[in-house]
Amino acid sequence: MNWFPDLALFSGPKYKMLADAIEAAITDGTLSSGDRLPTHRGLADQLGVTIGTVTRGYAEAERRRLVHARVGSGTFVMGKIWEKRDFSVKEQADDQLIDLSLSLPVPARREQILANSLRIISADPNRLAPLLEYLPETGLLAHRQAMVNWMRYHGMDVSADNLLITSGGQHANMMTLQGVLKPGDIIVSENLTYPGFINAARQWQLRHIGLEMDEQGLIPEVLEQCCQQQQPRLLYLTPNLQNPTAGVMGLERRKAILSVAARHNLLILEDDVQFIPPSQRLPSLFTLDSERVIYTSSLSKHLAGGLRVGFVCTPPDLTMKLRQAIRNDCWIAPALMSEVAMEWIDSGEAWQLVDWQWQEIQKRQKLLQSILGHLELTSQPYGFHAWLKLPEPWRAETFVRQLEAKNVKVLQAELFAVGSTAAPQAVRICISSPASQEQLEQGLIIIKEMLAHEPAVIMRPMVL
Ligand SMILES: Cc1ncc(COP(=O)(O)O)c(C=O)c1O
Repeated sequence: MNWFPDLALFSGPKYKMLADAIEAAITDGTLSSGDRLPTHRGLADQLGVTIGTVTRGYAEAERRRLVHARVGSGTFVMGKIWEKRDFSVKEQADDQLIDLSLSLPVPARREQILANSLRIISADPNRLAPLLEYLPETGLLAHRQAMVNWMRYHGMDVSADNLLITSGGQHANMMTLQGVLKPGDIIVSENLTYPGFINAARQWQLRHIGLEMDEQGLIPEVLEQCCQQQQPRLLYLTPNLQNPTAGVMGLERRKAILSVAARHNLLILEDDVQFIPPSQRLPSLFTLDSERVIYTSSLSKHLAGGLRVGFVCTPPDLTMKLRQAIRNDCWIAPALMSEVAMEWIDSGEAWQLVDWQWQEIQKRQKLLQSILGHLELTSQPYGFHAWLKLPEPWRAETFVRQLEAKNVKVLQAELFAVGSTAAPQAVRICISSPASQEQLEQGLIIIKEMLAHEPAVIMRPMVL
C-alpha cells in the first residue's frame, strides 16, 4: 500500500515519530487492519532516514501492539484499536455448584474471535494448502515466529530455531520427559506440585522425589543436599506462580537454584503456562541460563485451553531429542490450530482478550482479599489461584467435604503432594473459573462463614 507518513507533524527521536505516525494513521482510518506497511528499505529511501531507523520505528509500533511482522511477508496493521470487544459472559450458569477447583481462563465470549479467524484463514488458499501437508515436527516457521512474537510481548527473547510447537503445555512437558529422560531416572520438584506433571512422570516411570519448600518454592540448600545424595537428572519448577501454593520465586532464589543446578549438571524444566501479564514478569530461568533450562508454555491460560497450542524452548543441544519425541508421539502438533492461534495474535484479538482477562482477574483478586484477606492466604495480583492455610482445628479433608455439602468446590493440598510426602492442612482456591464476580463472591462468603466456626463435630469410631 502507498502510505507515506509526514514525520514533520511529530516530535522526538525519528523512530518514535514514525511509530507516532503509524498510530495517528490507524486512529484517523488512513491505515486499517491487515494493511501492509512499506518495506523497511522503501520507506527509508522515501523518508531519507536509515533502514535502522525504520526498523526501530516498526519495532516500537509492534511494542505498542499497532502492527505485527510476519516472516517473509512484511509488517501488517493490527485490528486492536477500533474493534473493542466485550467478552463478559452475560448469562449466569444455572447449576448450583460454585466450582473454585479448576485453574481455567475467566469464562469469556471468544466464539467471535474463532469465527473471524476461521473465516480469514479459509478465504486464503495459500494459507490453507500447507496445513494439509505432512510438515516438519518443529511446526511451521511462521507459527514458531508467532510464538517468538508472543513471548517478545511478554518481555522474553527466544529464538525460533530452538522453539518447537506442541499441543499445549502438558504435551510440552511430556515431550520433554520422553525426549531427555529414560524410565528409572530420578527427577525432583517441590513436594507440592502440579498433578499433571506428577502423573506424566509416573507414566514415564521416573523416580520422582518431592523436596521441602518455603513461600518462594524450592530451597537451594535442600536441592544441594538432594543432588549430593541422589544425583537427579531433572528438576521441575513453576517459578512464576507455584501451583498450588501461589508463591513466586524471587530473582535471587532463581539464581541460587541455577547455581546449584550448574554444579550438579542438573537439567531444569521450567513450566510457565500460568497467566502472567507482561508487566508482572521476573526474568525466567530460561532467560538466566538457556543452556540448562527447558522452557514450556502454552496459550491455554491466556486465550483458550481448547486451542491446544503450546511450545517448548530448548537448549540447542537438546532440540533434536525433543524433535524426535514429538515426531514419535504425533508427528506434529496440528498446524491448523497453530494457524488459528497465529491469526488471533497477529490480528490483535489475542491482546484484547489478555487485557480484558487481566482487568477481570485484578477485580477478582480484590474481592478475594476483601473477603478472605484476614486469613493465612497467599495470592498474586494476576493469579488464577490462591492458597489458603486453614486455621486450627480445621483439617483440609473435612473442610473440602463440608464445603461441598454447601455446593462450593476447592481442592485440598493432598492432591498436589508428590509420592507419600505429608500434605499441609491447606486448600487451593481458583478465582478465575466462576462465570461471574457475583458467583465468586458468593462462594468466597460461604468459605469465610464456614471458617468463622469450628468444624462440625464428626463422631470418630471408638479408638482404644
Ligand atoms: C502448571 C501447569 N502446567 C501445565 C498445564 C497444562 O497446560 P495446557 O492446558 O496448555 O496443556 C497446567 C494446566 O492447568 C498447569 O497448571
